[in-house]
Amino acid sequence: MKQILPRDYFDGEFCLPGDKSITHRAIMFNSGADGEAVVTGALMGEDCLSTCRCMRALGAEIDVDGTTLRIKGTPQFRSGAELDCGNSGTTIRLLTGFCAGKEIEAKLYGDASLSTRPMRRVADPLTELGANVETTDGHAPVYVSSAKLTGKKIKTKVSSAQVKSAILLAGLSADGTTTVEEPVKSRDHTERLLAAMGADIRVEGNSVSVSKSTLKGVDVEVPVDISSAAYFMALGALKGSALCKNVGVNPTRTGILTAFDKMGVRYTLQNRRVSGGEEIADVLVQKSPLQAITLGGAEIPSMIDELPLVAMMCAFADGESVITGAKELRVKESDRIFTTAKLINDLGGECEEREDGLVIRGKKCLRGGVADSFLDHRIAMTAAVGLMASKEGGGVLRPDCCAISFPTFFKQLERKN
Ligand code: S3P
Repeated sequence: MKQILPRDYFDGEFCLPGDKSITHRAIMFNSGADGEAVVTGALMGEDCLSTCRCMRALGAEIDVDGTTLRIKGTPQFRSGAELDCGNSGTTIRLLTGFCAGKEIEAKLYGDASLSTRPMRRVADPLTELGANVETTDGHAPVYVSSAKLTGKKIKTKVSSAQVKSAILLAGLSADGTTTVEEPVKSRDHTERLLAAMGADIRVEGNSVSVSKSTLKGVDVEVPVDISSAAYFMALGALKGSALCKNVGVNPTRTGILTAFDKMGVRYTLQNRRVSGGEEIADVLVQKSPLQAITLGGAEIPSMIDELPLVAMMCAFADGESVITGAKELRVKESDRIFTTAKLINDLGGECEEREDGLVIRGKKCLRGGVADSFLDHRIAMTAAVGLMASKEGGGVLRPDCCAISFPTFFKQLERKN
């Protein structure tokens, strides 16, 4: 158990890890591209290490030196590989599309949590393109075997960047044009990176089209992950101030700032710039009285991974907050509607589950206590924030899962300011 002491005041400047979504893509796409590439500021969390392990198993050469990766793409992929995707939904879903496109025969599997997550959402559209993709009752292990693909227009039911990216990766090898249209635009790191690598890709509103393309390796400077910075931003809002530098503020990822606007959190974006096709800024957040909010519909995809944290902040707000349209939370690393409600209630708050969201009755402060991570990194980190802002503090059970996306989380959190 990780013990967390309450703090009356929390402030500081934080040096946070690289973006998980961009790191996965920089590794995977460069592994299948012509030439060599250097990726700097990469996240070396367990999920991205799973992507490295899989791409090496397929034949790519990847040298790791701290957070710098040197990647040499392979023109000749190994067939018949068994690809261990660990806990990583992004690895297994993107790689299924990648293997289908490159006609690589492979078995893709993962840990107990990953094996419960839905895989038909990628298998079905890939099959529509002509791919041979078999799931195990809709889950991993997933088996891909060689087949020629034909481009099609696919309308997805969920706004998921993992599904969109799997289809686009396969579409890069299909005959004709492949178009993905999603209900609400999900994170667009795949589109940005594929364009930088020379792919024939066009974006129009919520639709993205690709045609047959060969990718050139490109260097990538990975910005700080706003999903990791969010925990420190929240502590700044609750307890003092936090300056998070070099944070990726791609508009498809900044839903947390929309939630901050609604709650009345005081923040500024400083030193705004663009690097490697991604918007970056230093984010300064200052202590603010929090108001209850409602969130739903098209607001949800751009803050999907931050919703447990937003709900925790609502527990410290004044009044009743309601989150709807977030059913996707049920199929993340844990059922995050259940685990978030349990977490808030275990720390003395009042949170009710709805089928597609949460109702949180804010109490301005929580008591504290002991909460389980359910082996879900985002629940572990949300618990730590809640405890640090609580009256009595307490403990997080099974905290080591933070290493999935933020290996140094507790070290940075407990740093004396
Ligand atoms: C991710 C997309 C999101 C997100 C996940 C990372 C990505 O999942 O929850 O942490 O890198 O594409 P969905 O695409 O399933 O919503």
